[in-house]
Amino acid sequence: MDDLKAKYLGQIADAGDEDALEAIRLAAVGKKGEVALKMRELGKMTPEERQVAGPALNALKDEINSALTAKKTALGDAALDERLRSEWLDVTLPARDRRQGSIHPVSQASEELTAIFAELGFSVAEGPRIETDWHNFDALNIPSHHPARAEMDTFYLHRVAGDNRPPNVLRTHTSPVQIRSMELQGAPIRIICPGGVYRADYDQTHTPMFHQVEGLAIDKDISMANLKWVLEEFVKAYFEVDGVELRFRASHFPFTEPSAEVDIRCSWEGGQLKIGEGDDWMEILGSGMVHPKVIAAGGIDPEVYQGFAFGIGIDRLAMLKYGIPDLRAFFDSDLRWLRHYGFAALDMPNLHGGLSR
Ligand code: DAH
Repeated sequence: MDDLKAKYLGQIADAGDEDALEAIRLAAVGKKGEVALKMRELGKMTPEERQVAGPALNALKDEINSALTAKKTALGDAALDERLRSEWLDVTLPARDRRQGSIHPVSQASEELTAIFAELGFSVAEGPRIETDWHNFDALNIPSHHPARAEMDTFYLHRVAGDNRPPNVLRTHTSPVQIRSMELQGAPIRIICPGGVYRADYDQTHTPMFHQVEGLAIDKDISMANLKWVLEEFVKAYFEVDGVELRFRASHFPFTEPSAEVDIRCSWEGGQLKIGEGDDWMEILGSGMVHPKVIAAGGIDPEVYQGFAFGIGIDRLAMLKYGIPDLRAFFDSDLRWLRHYGFAALDMPNLHGGLSR
């Protein structure tokens, strides 16, 4: 028994890993291990012999088992120590400036305009990109067969067989978030909603997926003058100049009355896009006083509350500010384009430090 003990305790001490340890366990105290075989011999012994050998064998088994457990723990600790040594990393080292993973101009423009509207007291709201026909159209005073539906080049989703409701759509604008926000928060309310929208359209200034930011302000004493001031403050802050020329054009949207479209003076000379000069105008937003039917659809009493809304094309804002002539390139994922037009990832735009540096 002393030989067995010496043999196995020695092997356990020398074991280099858990596999070796398991092999020793099977050979020593496994069902067919050496100690088990010895235990089987107890039957052939005289009662006196058994009285000595039985407890001794059990003690040996216990001793081997505890040696195995202790060694297993020690091996685990050593493995952890080794990992801690080899995977050591100095997290205080500066990040590598490889200009990979730059911020896309659309993200940059979104961050910038969010910072501006935050200063003006607007919080950020969100809505789903797959929208119900009701939120995207009816609630915004665009009933079925309204010509505005055809103009939007809507992407419709498949309808489940047997479902008679109108199919869901990829939202064609961020305006449905007006409805969802009013339903959720009631009045008064002051929100913007930046996000992706979809229309089947494709040329130099249109892509099937693009970005808008919706604005909505509802309270008891809001007029068109407030709308005009907010938009002018926004445009001046966004373009970081005092001299941007805006053109308010009387227009029509089903969800606003009266409505105005706003264009910004620009030049396309030599294929270069510049703002604030030239003889061209680029439409950047639609706006107006929210139609009473829309306020009611949002669950708010239009006899008590009124307000303004606007929808701005974020991609166009980015094109104008950063002189990017073709919208389609925004979504080509061409690394050379992203390196050229992208922004440093660690610069957070804010009005105090400068929006874009
Ligand atoms: N939803 C309009 C569009 O996508 C933009 C728009 C116009 C939004 C007027 C508004 C608004 O909130 O008041 O063309």
